[in-house]
Amino acid sequence: MAAACLFGAVVPASAQKGTYDPAAVPRGKEVFGPACGFCHGLTARGGDGGPDLARSLFVMGDDHGKQLGEIIKNGRPNNGMPAFPDITPAQVSDMASFLHERVEAARNRESATPPNIIVGDAKAGLAYFNGAGKCSACHSATGDLQGIAAKYEPVALQDRFLSPRAGGRGGRGGGQNRTAKTVKVTPATGPAVTGTLMSVSDFAVTMRDSEGNRRTFTRDGDVPKVEITDPLQAHYDLLRRITDADIHNLTAYLVTLK
Ligand code: HEC
Ligand code: HEC
Repeated sequence: MAAACLFGAVVPASAQKGTYDPAAVPRGKEVFGPACGFCHGLTARGGDGGPDLARSLFVMGDDHGKQLGEIIKNGRPNNGMPAFPDITPAQVSDMASFLHERVEAARNRESATPPNIIVGDAKAGLAYFNGAGKCSACHSATGDLQGIAAKYEPVALQDRFLSPRAGGRGGRGGGQNRTAKTVKVTPATGPAVTGTLMSVSDFAVTMRDSEGNRRTFTRDGDVPKVEITDPLQAHYDLLRRITDADIHNLTAYLVTLK
């Protein structure tokens, strides 16, 4: 009987897909951040240039870095995923552990939160907002976040601060996109040019300048000088150290901003 076979099969836990080595997770994160974080977000929850990998069926189906190794080595150049031919097998294996941990964390978070995601303490959330979280450096309850709880359901609201770039809202009211990265390119001779970053690799950087023109500069090492500014950097830094308790408290606080 099929069911009996299925449940009768003895698979050692360590050989199951999706399992990972907890000790490798921080190492994987160290490699992932600089190499992949630009597009996928430092926590792999998605960014401007790449999908959320914690919800990726591809990652879920990966067997200890085998499939991940392939896509990292070869990329999907036609779809915007670059190839990383120089990544070592050890780095792939560490990143695989990191990504499988991300999938598990996302799953746990989802199953732990609904149906009532407001399990935190609004007062503690307020204290975190003005204190350790430094949210008040950029936001205010009576300014940009006023009425935010009326705009989003609690789950969506929590998602907004966990991955403000996801969801592809190109800025409010068709105006300038407040989440867009900007870039300043300083050629060896001539004035610096700034604009909205469109893409960047070791070989070229493309921006949309203030007149709306698309401009590409080829790169050779440090020439021209390229400086990228991400208005969401603070968010990504924050997500590296935020705890689940902080997340719950912040959500409980933000839902009061009706
Ligand atoms: C320049 C942006 C960029 C960088 C850098 C980048 N990726 Fe991607 N990645 C993408 C895009 C875009 C896709 C979606 C491609 C597609 O739809 O086929 C993708 C897809 C993927 C997928 C498949 C997801 C799926 O569900 O199909 C994995 C896994 C992945 N990337 C891992 C990585 C890792 C690991 C790194 C770093 C070593 C990395 N990426 C660096 C842009 C990027
Ligand atoms: C250095 C500046 C900065 C800091 C610090 C910062 N944010 Fe943000 N935040 C932004 C930017 C930029 C956006 C994207 C612009 C937007 O969507 O309004 C954003 C977006 C958001 C949004 C979505 C707003 C919307 O209308 O969709 C929420 C909610 C949010 N942040 C909450 C927080 C919380 C909570 C903290 C602290 C834990 C925090 N932010 C820290 C800059 C910051």
